Amino acid sequence: MHVALTGATGFLGLRLLRRLLTTHPSLTILSHAGSGDALSRITRFFELSGAPDELVRALPGRLRVVETALEEPRLGLSRAAFEKLADGLGTIWHSAGSINLEGDLAHLRRTNVEGTRHVLDLAAAGRHAPAVHHVSTAFVAGARRDGVAYEDELSGAHGFENAYERSKFEAETLVRDWARTHGRPVLVLRPSILVTDLPPHPELPTHPLQVVEQILRDSLRAAGHQDLPGTDRPRMRMVGHPYGHLNLMPVEEAADVMVRLAERSVPGGSASGAAAQGSAAPGGVTTYHVVHPHDVPVPTIIALLERLVPLHFDVVPERPEDATPLEALMDFYPGFTSYLRHRRRFDDTRVRTLFGARPSGYRVDLDYLCAGLVHGHAVPG
Ligand SMILES: NC(=O)c1ccc[n+]([C@@H]2O[C@H](COP(=O)([O-])OP(=O)(O)OC[C@H]3O[C@@H](n4cnc5c(N)ncnc54)[C@H](OP(=O)(O)O)[C@@H]3O)[C@@H](O)[C@H]2O)c1
Repeated sequence: MHVALTGATGFLGLRLLRRLLTTHPSLTILSHAGSGDALSRITRFFELSGAPDELVRALPGRLRVVETALEEPRLGLSRAAFEKLADGLGTIWHSAGSINLEGDLAHLRRTNVEGTRHVLDLAAAGRHAPAVHHVSTAFVAGARRDGVAYEDELSGAHGFENAYERSKFEAETLVRDWARTHGRPVLVLRPSILVTDLPPHPELPTHPLQVVEQILRDSLRAAGHQDLPGTDRPRMRMVGHPYGHLNLMPVEEAADVMVRLAERSVPGGSASGAAAQGSAAPGGVTTYHVVHPHDVPVPTIIALLERLVPLHFDVVPERPEDATPLEALMDFYPGFTSYLRHRRRFDDTRVRTLFGARPSGYRVDLDYLCAGLVHGHAVPG
């Protein structure tokens, strides 16, 4: 049956699209209306990521683009167009969303929660009851900084580090309610922070950590610092835990794992391995953490930040009382800085039960991270 994908021009969506095209002759792209020509942006990604010419040339014939507005009822389509679209679908991948860590809750809710509601409406309207694969985030675990977050858990009890996390939590809650009331299975895929070693390029979607670089540069400028080379770099204290760690998942591997998980799901039921564990009833939600087997220690993240911006960072346990103007400015972005205190792990037992305890194809270290973020960074052969 035919597959549709939202968010196909995004950092993750482009990799999902490329992976899906290995097994599907054609796909429907539910693109972001008014946001630039999706087909040419997709084509440019395929070229820049080294796709074979033959595949690049075939894209216009294999992709059908339907412009949609997530925030609008019926995705902004007429009733007739919405129903026709729904009736032609066997699977809907929902990857579109706003990942703005500084965004305000009302805006994030419109895109991430209402957007998900309208995608679920599309799935409900389809004559063939299309399967729904919802891209969430491991960070729905919220502001719980220690311990283990399990795939079955979904609780707002710990609060959230930022409005983005809250909006994704609310979207997942909506998905669970929908699956229950409609008696439909949904696959929920929770990647951690996605990264790549594909060199940065102005025509590629923004690498999530590029946003952090931009925030730091903006703060430097706002605090009146020039870009100072070498030893003149200003020092800045950042609150963090010396043994903190974060899970960073190569986006190409995340897309591959997600598509393989979807391929294992049984039409009309839950994913086969999960069903074998008795962990998901038909008509329910099966959730997977799509994470790297090894976390990245906070000192590596700090070393990366020092490669990106002309600053020296000192990790301190508490917010200093005598904060400099620069440190005070960084406090405006608690959405990011709080992650340096995190020491929790994401359990991915379900994924490992299905695919085995696999080593990742990628070693996510300073060199890997620099390759995807620092212009002209050469990875040692
Ligand atoms: N990036 C990460 O580290 C990360 C980690 C965990 C989970 N996730 C989840 O993965 C999914 C994809 O993230 P991403 O990294 O690919 O984000 P991204 O690069 O910002 O891409 C977002 C995608 O959503 C589309 N979109 C945004 N607003 C829309 C709207 N109003 N109507 C229709 N389409 C809209 C964008 O289209 P345009 O480009 O045309 O605007 C783009 O294709 C999101 O659900 C996110 O929460 C991401």
